[in-house]
Amino acid sequence: MKSLKTNLDLNPVYPPSDTIQKRAYISSLDEYLKMYNASIEDPVQFWENISAQFFWKSKPAGRFLSYNFDLQKGPIFVKWMEGASTNICYNLVDKHVQDGYGNKVAYYWEGNEPSEQKQITYQALLQAICKCANVLKSLGITKGDRVAIYMPTTIEAIVVMLSCARIGAIHTVIFAGFSADALAERMIAAKAKLLITADGTFRGTKFIPLKSIATQALIQCKAADHPLHHCIVFNRLQTIKQPSNIPDIPWDDSMDHSWEALIASASDVCEPEWVDAEDPLFILYTSGSTGKPKGVVHTGGGYLLYAATAFKYAFDYHPEDIFFCSGDLGWITGHTFNVYGALACRSTSVIFDGIPTYPDGGRFWDLIDRYKVTTFYTAPTAIRTLMKLESSYVTKHNRTSLRILGSVGEPIDPSTWTWLYEVVGAKRCPIIDTFWQTETGAPIICPLPGFTPLKPGSATLPFWGIVPTIVDDHGVDIIGEGKGHLVIKNPWPGMARTIDGHHQRFQSTYFEPYNGYYYTGDSAKRDADGYFWITGRTDDMLNRSGHLISTAEIESTLMQHPSVAEAAAVSASHAIKGESIHCFIVLKNGWLYNQMIDSEIKSIVRNKLGAFAAPDLVYPVPALPKVGSGKIMRRLLRKIVRQEVHFGDTSTLVDQNIIDWLRILTLHKVKIS
Ligand code: WTA
Repeated sequence: MKSLKTNLDLNPVYPPSDTIQKRAYISSLDEYLKMYNASIEDPVQFWENISAQFFWKSKPAGRFLSYNFDLQKGPIFVKWMEGASTNICYNLVDKHVQDGYGNKVAYYWEGNEPSEQKQITYQALLQAICKCANVLKSLGITKGDRVAIYMPTTIEAIVVMLSCARIGAIHTVIFAGFSADALAERMIAAKAKLLITADGTFRGTKFIPLKSIATQALIQCKAADHPLHHCIVFNRLQTIKQPSNIPDIPWDDSMDHSWEALIASASDVCEPEWVDAEDPLFILYTSGSTGKPKGVVHTGGGYLLYAATAFKYAFDYHPEDIFFCSGDLGWITGHTFNVYGALACRSTSVIFDGIPTYPDGGRFWDLIDRYKVTTFYTAPTAIRTLMKLESSYVTKHNRTSLRILGSVGEPIDPSTWTWLYEVVGAKRCPIIDTFWQTETGAPIICPLPGFTPLKPGSATLPFWGIVPTIVDDHGVDIIGEGKGHLVIKNPWPGMARTIDGHHQRFQSTYFEPYNGYYYTGDSAKRDADGYFWITGRTDDMLNRSGHLISTAEIESTLMQHPSVAEAAAVSASHAIKGESIHCFIVLKNGWLYNQMIDSEIKSIVRNKLGAFAAPDLVYPVPALPKVGSGKIMRRLLRKIVRQEVHFGDTSTLVDQNIIDWLRILTLHKVKIS
């Protein structure tokens, strides 16, 4: 960091504009360093000051922060403000209403069809949450119970999340693109007592039968001895103009309840439950390299501080701004920036249940104009899709309200960055490339709009309270410029506390690999200015269109096809999706690969995991490259599908000839991919 002042002029950088700088909370390197240094030199004092903005029913019983990152000394744990009691929903909604902001719009919602529009004020949001909380209670949900949410991005989904938080129940939102199997697996793992879903939704012209999928998942839960007794169904389709396109929605009177009917008779008064700062707020499943998804647990107190602070500084959010995050509620981005961090800052947000290319490729820019969006946050994959289209889709909308653009989910390559900066932002708007993970709760490395000189493709500098470093394969710190594994040395309030029911896995995944540092699973390089450049996952994880999927999850699904004896999945780079999924399979004796098997194999993954995980290409091969212990050398397969010619050290490979075989077999297909 010391070198920042001296070296910046050696690299092409984009300094903040005067307009952005003038209004910013942080507008100079000195201001950044003052805050950053305070946050790492005395984290307790720093976060204690921030906690004073929120309402606490009681103060921490003991220390503000206690933790252990040293496995030699005992189990890993992190606790912020243990013993303090609060309610996050109260801080996000009631407090603003009491402060006189009840009439401020909290959300503008737009559905797949531009004619589907709703909005809700803070006052109305509070009433809706109280009603829903009372409904949950009437169905027997109390503090600590788990509630599964399988809903499209709607105001109602947010209402459900916050009503869980209000009564101390733990929500687990399952992305509405997941299949019935994936939904059932997560409901069973979370021991969910109740499911809340919707009848269906549209993605462009495609109908997504959410209730049918939920019904199949509930049947699976029952078969696995985890019967759920209630399923609440929100009528999302009521605003669709052509109901004739909608197939029948399955309904089981013994357990299905209409959301509208329950809400209509519920009281709109519900006292919040005062919970401990360290009580779980939500569980969010993310892919794990063993193939079993990890239920990442976040607690309410620390997450509130970190999510709110990140939202405020990363987007330089002022309450008059209009924020639009195109991310789905089923991902951490939706949790932190569509709900918790945003409402904590009394935001007005746009949420969108549609796709960027429907009815045409100008949808995002149209939304930005109509809602006067100041801050637009999206994923590189969406930008890459839109960049392919005529730029008139962008330029026919005026976008003058825009001040800040943000990116998340995968590395943003310099050409996508430049297009976003020049075409969408008309060179006025800084691009805030936020690096973070489900486990980190909010961004941990990101620029700040009013201060950070930007370098296209770099997530730049650490956020408050984060001490990142890069280590080599042996866990040795790399000082100064270098490339290695990205780790975080210290605890921060928004970090995950455990993996639900698997604390050992939490320790072994994140803390055992490198000296008790938090291991991100990403590699990164640090340049001479101290800027971080995230270069991608180093574990067995694929990142397709911003969705993390483990190779193990895909491989175990491929193995479910009767013809498949062995399988390996790797990623290749892809112009739009960032990464595409390439699968190698070895067929069982007697099977012949043909078009039918190819499409069956792809659809088995689509059905079991969800469309986002479906293989782009499947290669039937005679054998997989393995080392003596039997482990598949995925590194080699990755190089083959990326058409690289230098394979590194392959001395441990059992059959050296396999490399040439695989190169020949894949050559044609890779070219057409
Ligand atoms: C990747 C999403 C580069 C990274 C918030 C990380 C990124 C994984 C960036 C977490 C970024 C996220 N630059 N890579 N700005 N943001 N990633 O848990 O590999 O869905 O480990 O959280 O996405 O994905 P997750």
